[in-house]
Amino acid sequence: MEAAIIGGTGVYDLSLESRAETVETKYGTVQVDIVKAGDKEVAFLARHGKDHSVPPHLINYRANMKALKELGVKYVYASAAVGSCNSRFAPGDIVVITDFIDFTKTRLATFYDGGEEGVAHVDMSDPYCKNLRKRFYDVAVTEGLNIKGDAVYACTEGPRFETGHEIKMYRQLGADVVGMTSVPEVVLAKELGMCYAAVGIITNWCTGVNGKEIALHDIKGVLEKTREKLTRTFIKALEGDLNQQNCSCARSLIQM
Ligand code: HPA
Repeated sequence: MEAAIIGGTGVYDLSLESRAETVETKYGTVQVDIVKAGDKEVAFLARHGKDHSVPPHLINYRANMKALKELGVKYVYASAAVGSCNSRFAPGDIVVITDFIDFTKTRLATFYDGGEEGVAHVDMSDPYCKNLRKRFYDVAVTEGLNIKGDAVYACTEGPRFETGHEIKMYRQLGADVVGMTSVPEVVLAKELGMCYAAVGIITNWCTGVNGKEIALHDIKGVLEKTREKLTRTFIKALEGDLNQQNCSCARSLIQM
């Protein structure tokens, strides 16, 4: 199957009939649900597990992305709960992520550690696929999903939230939203030649922004409201004719 959806916090299934599949990879075992979308099949993977038991810094990103590759996946939409450090984007808004700034510290962020796999470098001029981003905007209009715009994502190590001064720094560096999972997921997708796009669901103001503290009930409420519309939009976007001809996603890897 060509297409997949990765569900972040609050998105643990697609609310559709599905069959479970287990994929073994050299990095670990991964559970996915397979659903029908038109005449295609789409794989669904819950990033934190269906019961949200895996914290962001311990997710087996390499196994997840390799499992999708082994299923034949070329196109991936991912959701990500994020905090906003830009006053233009408020809790409840949806943004399309266009770039990231990486502040992670402990993660295995490549398939190319030398040895059997060799050494490679991957181009990051467009980490998030341009074609899939445009397609998401087009389909979202017909689904009545209100997208607030493009956003730059700062990825932190977590699982703790940020201090007020960390958020001040991220803002100064050009970040609009902050989350804990897009890196290395997007990087590994690109190493595997996949088209990958991520959509941020803003669940809270970041620490100190608008003088607010982060409240858990806010986060859960926002996700519950947005989940179904967002996953319907992903499925619709994946149903159409997809190709990798007008983007560089499949040609971003430089092997040494
Ligand atoms: N910071 C980091 N990750 C997050 C946040 C946040 O404020 N909200 C949701 N995920």
